[in-house]
Amino acid sequence: MEDPWQKAYDFAVAVARKAGAEIRKAGESEIRVMTKRSTVDLVTKTDERVEKIIIGSLKEEFGEGTHCFIGEESVAKGEPCILTDKPTWIIDPVDGTTNFVHGFPFVAVSIAFAVNKELEFGVVYSCLEDKMYKARKGKGAFCDDEPIQVSDVKDINKSIIISEHGTDRSPEKVTKIFSTMQKMLCIPVHGLRGSGTAATNMCLVATGAVEAFFEIGIHCWDIAAGAVIVREAGGILLDVDGGPFDLMSRRMVSANNETIAKRIIKEIEIFPVVRDDAP
Ligand code: IPD
Repeated sequence: MEDPWQKAYDFAVAVARKAGAEIRKAGESEIRVMTKRSTVDLVTKTDERVEKIIIGSLKEEFGEGTHCFIGEESVAKGEPCILTDKPTWIIDPVDGTTNFVHGFPFVAVSIAFAVNKELEFGVVYSCLEDKMYKARKGKGAFCDDEPIQVSDVKDINKSIIISEHGTDRSPEKVTKIFSTMQKMLCIPVHGLRGSGTAATNMCLVATGAVEAFFEIGIHCWDIAAGAVIVREAGGILLDVDGGPFDLMSRRMVSANNETIAKRIIKEIEIFPVVRDDAP
């Protein structure tokens, strides 16, 4: 049977590369920083411009009516964030905006595509490192066209775990985040890390560089593409309470295997977040 989404997949890779080149160029000049929900939730003109470039190119190629778009900056401006059965692109133009602003060298373009609410493919272009991660459902995961695979570590004491603090700095949440980190360190794990971009963190799980990445407070556009890449590299995704992964729930554990995921879940102190698709 002819593969219905191959053209879309190839196009997504090309668009991600073009978007990454724009980000690199923009990083060479002065960056004007604005804030969104709080003083640490940063956004730049580049985020907005690159999202326009990506969505504009996709609309031109695939038509406006049949495909839907969920983009971080469009949602910030009031567009809906609802996943329907229609072919839907889920886009973070600049994942790691804080890194971008500070020149910390991990910034990614994240583009995912879902049909009937199922993720079909994901592309993460780590544009400062010039690494293209991609995966299609059932067809494996790749970095620069080389197959990638999660690590085979099952012993949590031999693992490296990634987590992030996000942008909500209310003292109760920060306390829970640090308490979880403390428990994790004292298991003990080999180390805790964080690249500052959820999409890249998931690719690090997929390559086997780390065993897991978890976070409460991320958004669907941060993790949709990475979710396909982790699964196709042999890893798993779960909710932080051990239930099934829910793209819109703003919480997730991605890991190399169930043993590691479940061990981490034991330590996570869950705090409430508002779903991406909340009315
Ligand atoms: C952020 C990054 C960060 C994660 C935050 C995200 P943004 O995305 O992925 O690693 O901790 O929760 O919001 O705002 O740079 O696109």
